[in-house]
Amino acid sequence: MTAQLAGRTVFITGSGGVLGSTYVRRMLAAGARVVATDLAGPRAEALVAAHGANPDFGFYELDVGNEEQVTRIFARVLADGWQPNVVLNNAAITGEMLMGAGKPFPDFADTSVADFERTLRTNLTGAFMVARQMDRDIVGKWPCTLVNVASMYALNGAHHPIYDGMPFKNFSAYGVTKAGIHGLTVWLAGYWAPRQATVNTIAPGAVFNGHSEEFQRRVGELIMAGRMAQPDEIADAMLFLCSPQAGYMTGQMVNVDGGFSAW
Ligand SMILES: NC(=O)c1ccc[n+]([C@@H]2O[C@H](COP(=O)([O-])OP(=O)(O)OC[C@H]3O[C@@H](n4cnc5c(N)ncnc54)[C@H](O)[C@@H]3O)[C@@H](O)[C@H]2O)c1
Repeated sequence: MTAQLAGRTVFITGSGGVLGSTYVRRMLAAGARVVATDLAGPRAEALVAAHGANPDFGFYELDVGNEEQVTRIFARVLADGWQPNVVLNNAAITGEMLMGAGKPFPDFADTSVADFERTLRTNLTGAFMVARQMDRDIVGKWPCTLVNVASMYALNGAHHPIYDGMPFKNFSAYGVTKAGIHGLTVWLAGYWAPRQATVNTIAPGAVFNGHSEEFQRRVGELIMAGRMAQPDEIADAMLFLCSPQAGYMTGQMVNVDGGFSAW
């Protein structure tokens, strides 16, 4: 049987995170070549340590909020012999990332414009710039697909009480950017269709990453499945969206949230 991602070269932003690193591992195992990108730092180093010896894996430093870097990235990748036909707009400023960086979570009334716009720059403008560069360098040259990563908090509001007393919170710019990214998906779907390019959104639910029992209990009560997702359960759907089996899908949002959005 042919491997699910045979013939796919997947370009991933923010690939050192909880989900990104899972996608990299699973995609390599499914026969893809993987061009991983992320900010420099321990997450990137861990990824290179895990996969650097695999000839089907390449790593490039990329800040998706840096226009000059994004403008040059596909030219560099193509010159090195990679020919991406799948692109994942996965990088984001997340609550977990802010917690890890020791950043405080101000109340809404105290949220600065600078903080709000920093999240927009990475999560939304960054995704736009990657898609725009894909349009310039890849779309129309060979069939390809883009997967934009939203969240269960894209089209549904955060349930604020579950964050009471927790070291992390959901913050307004996060939901705004995750709703916006699906706007990019539906706009591009029709624009790219004549050039054999598809684009979809995946909206993961709450992914377990060492959360406390109390948080798991609170969020579990909001989810039909009664529990958080394992990263591999999100990867199962992501691999499908990156595979030829998703070839007739475009402009869609796929919720992988244990039923959270369906109550
Ligand atoms: N984990 C969840 O519960 C969950 C749920 C819904 C959606 N998501 C989404 O899935 C995606 C991956 O989430 P995760 O849980 O792996 O998050 P994570 O915080 O573990 O990883 C995010 C990655 O993005 C990178 N990043 C941040 N700013 C960047 C920039 N300017 N340029 C390039 N890379 C940058 C970080 O270095 C990190 O490796 C995100 O888009 C997130 O919003 C996650």
